[in-house]
Amino acid sequence: MRFAAVAVLLLLPQDGDVARRVLPDEVKVERVELAVDVARARRALASEPPAKVEAWRAEGRHFASPRESSAWAATVVRVDTPAGAVDVAVSILVDEDLIARVRVSGPGAAKIPQEFLRRFGGLEIDGGALLEPRSTLEAARAKAEGRDAEAAVLRALLSIRGSMCAFHPVHNAATERLRKRERKADEAEALAGLFDDMAKAATDLSFLKEENRKRLREYSVAASGQAKAIADGLRAGDFAKAEKAKEAVGDSCNACHGQFRRPLRSERARRKLGDGYFVVGYDVVAEPGADPKALQAVADGVRRGSVLLSTAK
Ligand code: HEC
Repeated sequence: MRFAAVAVLLLLPQDGDVARRVLPDEVKVERVELAVDVARARRALASEPPAKVEAWRAEGRHFASPRESSAWAATVVRVDTPAGAVDVAVSILVDEDLIARVRVSGPGAAKIPQEFLRRFGGLEIDGGALLEPRSTLEAARAKAEGRDAEAAVLRALLSIRGSMCAFHPVHNAATERLRKRERKADEAEALAGLFDDMAKAATDLSFLKEENRKRLREYSVAASGQAKAIADGLRAGDFAKAEKAKEAVGDSCNACHGQFRRPLRSERARRKLGDGYFVVGYDVVAEPGADPKALQAVADGVRRGSVLLSTAK
């Protein structure tokens, strides 16, 4: 096993600083050869390009942890992007099965938005699709193309997931128009469109009770209406109206999430459409203006690092 583990963990001794940056300052860091469960890691990563990996382990307090002391593991994966190589450093909180932090360095790193990296922080490793090969996602997506009732459910789940995945970049762009007092409503219209799609998809979620499908639909229609009010305000130059509508959209999240986020997430996971594939446009958001190829390469690195660290326990 040890021999096999070394075959996966190609150690690069010079990159300790990168790993240091994804671990809290106060923790003691030691460089280790992690005993990766090679079979599990290989299965998960079967269809992905190879990358070099180095691993560290650390013990120490974590501010958000209920425990006094947390075990951390960190690793660096080098990936190629069109703008040059990027060293992707990932740390996980071992006991809590969470990705803690992701940082990048190297020639191509300047082109990777911080927002993109921040979204990996706090993602759960357990219960998701991290240890499923990406071919499983492809298979589920193919199944969603079918004509039966289950295909309709899959399409609805994928659609809602896609809408929420797209939310932040579109919302940020609409908010930016408002901040700059620009009379351009395209992004706010797109935001309304995301909730319109959700309203349509809600009808096909046959695993929900009728009344709950109706409620999800109502929440979606309401949120869409508020997003349209942002668009109307922007177009008319009525920025006070747009501002008020923006706040209403911001207030809409909790009620809907409180009731629907968890059930939809677990229904997706049950159908092997969970999070953790880290495919840009599926469970990872493409930042506008950034090169999707570069983002996907970094997401590949995060996934490889997380798989190796999580199978090493
Ligand atoms: C009409 C219902 C509804 C409203 C309103 C809504 N959401 Fe969601 N949101 C969902 C559902 C359902 C999910 C879970 C989708 C899934 O996991 O497949 C979700 C998931 C998300 C996710 C993905 C999180 C993850 O797991 O990666 C983000 C981000 C998000 N919502 C942001 C927002 C924000 C911000 C708002 C408010 C401004 C908002 N949503 C309003 C229904 C809603």
